[in-house]
Amino acid sequence: MIIKSIKLFNFRNHTEYSLDCQDETSLILGENGSGKTSVLEAIYILTRGKSFRATDPEIIKRGTEYYRIELEYTNGEIYTATYDGVTKTFLIMDKKSRRLPKKNKYPVVLFQPSDLNLISHSPSRRRDYFDRIFSQFDEKYNESLLKYEKSLKQRNELLKSDNITKEAIFSWNILLAKYGTDLFTYRQKFIQEINSRLTDIYRSIAENDDEIEIIYKSDVASSNDNQYLNILESNYQKDLYLGHTSFGVHRDDYIFKFNGKPADGSASRGESRSIILALKFIEADLVYQKLSKKPIILLDDVFSELDESRRKCLVKNFKDNQVIITSVEDIKDK
Ligand SMILES: Nc1ncnc2c1ncn2[C@@H]1O[C@H](COP(=O)(O)OP(=O)(O)OP(=O)(O)O)[C@@H](O)[C@H]1O
Ligand SMILES: [Mg+2]
Repeated sequence: MIIKSIKLFNFRNHTEYSLDCQDETSLILGENGSGKTSVLEAIYILTRGKSFRATDPEIIKRGTEYYRIELEYTNGEIYTATYDGVTKTFLIMDKKSRRLPKKNKYPVVLFQPSDLNLISHSPSRRRDYFDRIFSQFDEKYNESLLKYEKSLKQRNELLKSDNITKEAIFSWNILLAKYGTDLFTYRQKFIQEINSRLTDIYRSIAENDDEIEIIYKSDVASSNDNQYLNILESNYQKDLYLGHTSFGVHRDDYIFKFNGKPADGSASRGESRSIILALKFIEADLVYQKLSKKPIILLDDVFSELDESRRKCLVKNFKDNQVIITSVEDIKDK
């Protein structure tokens, strides 16, 4: 699908804003704080269901009572979302719903300047990053993740409460073992798929013969949920003392390796950028392979962060996608 236009009402600093999109590349130019990222945020809400950076109360224009966004695809379908301070309502071709229905989601690859520092970010930022990618690859991953997070929250609350029993914890252990094992298995598989392309794509960007690999690091050692359950059970006293769950996939990490060494510390700034660029290309490619849909590419202010050869790679790689770019400086001639 191709976006024809996006309209914003009382959304962040925009009272009323409208953008007609090109089938290929659209450029949103504006000074810092003019509301460029907000336009991408609105597109993201109407394609993925929720913002990539905030909750709805933070988004309503200060001093107003509601926001409304409207996205039209070139096939004539119109999607709107309205939030009145309490309830968010999606209206898709006369059908109302509280969430964006799965069948109405459309894949998006978002590229933000902070992604360029992924290699040196905290493990939790890396987990969030890959969770977002994997959830888009596979709806089942998304479901397992939501259920895992909910169970983990309940178990941790119980560990801190006064009326805890080993029996009460057991039911949460079962759910954590089940969904945790699912996530472990998916993460292993997806990272393997990414790795099988990473070095080749990296070399095509950086034009050298470095080796790149992502190591999926987990305390979980096997895809056997009984083993997972046994560890949770045997950690009962320890977790009770700590007041949280010390074992599980919520502690996973992804380590980038550059010629066999941790990239954080050995790869240069430019090399790190090429690795992330390669990762974005693979993400878009795998989305297309798995969902048979060309993702919409949202490039938030990344052009100014890249040198000329990497900009060229970016443009060339996404020439068959609809691309929406924000920038502070005019990049048309670059
Ligand atoms: N709820 C809100 N109500 C009104 N204004 C808001 C709200 N939330 C954010 N803003 C303001 O809206 C403006 C637009 O933010 P946005 O992040 O979209 O800008 P931007 O053009 O991407 O800026 P930059 O170039 O710095 O990334 C900012 O000045 C921000 O402070
Ligand atoms: Mg911005």
